[in-house]
Amino acid sequence: MRLFQILIYMLALTIGGCLAFQHNIQFPHRSPKQLQYIEKVSESTPGVDFVSKGTPSSNPALNKQGKALFKTNCASCHNKNMKDDLVGPALNGVAARWKDYPEEDLYEWIRNSQSLVESKHPKGVSIWKEWNKAVMAPFPNLSDEDIAAILFYIEETSG
Ligand code: HEC
Repeated sequence: MRLFQILIYMLALTIGGCLAFQHNIQFPHRSPKQLQYIEKVSESTPGVDFVSKGTPSSNPALNKQGKALFKTNCASCHNKNMKDDLVGPALNGVAARWKDYPEEDLYEWIRNSQSLVESKHPKGVSIWKEWNKAVMAPFPNLSDEDIAAILFYIEETSG
């Protein structure tokens, strides 16, 4: 009877040892909990916000703000890769395309594109016609700071 107990005990030790050994091969020095923590920290470390593959942003906070606003307001119609058209045109280099007009015109377009079309703004009318008079949604609630952040994000993402 005693021998039987010792055998069971040894068997349990062997199985336990194997499991611990396997775990050690997968994660030599870190428990799964530690690994999760490390991933979380690197995601949220300020100052290490990457725009696209490996390019650090020149202003991570502004980039982040612009990205969030772009995602909620614009990404349904404008491709987030900034290169391909979607419901609306690709936005890479958009500021340069509006450079012949005061900066406020582009801000006004984003806030209410149809008001520019109605006032016969040459750039506004031409892009509207080019896109078969599809109406871009108005965003009266976006502040100048919001739009500046979105344009900054577009610029950095365009590369
Ligand atoms: C419902 C779809 C839709 C949404 C949402 C949308 N757009 Fe547009 N956007 C368009 C369309 C379509 C055009 C093409 C012009 C037109 O037909 O009015 C356009 C054109 C533009 C242009 C002019 C592009 C150029 O080459 O001159 C800019 C800038 C722009 N959008 C920015 C934005 C921003 C910034 C947002 C988010 C705040 C946004 N759009 C959200 C549909 C949309």
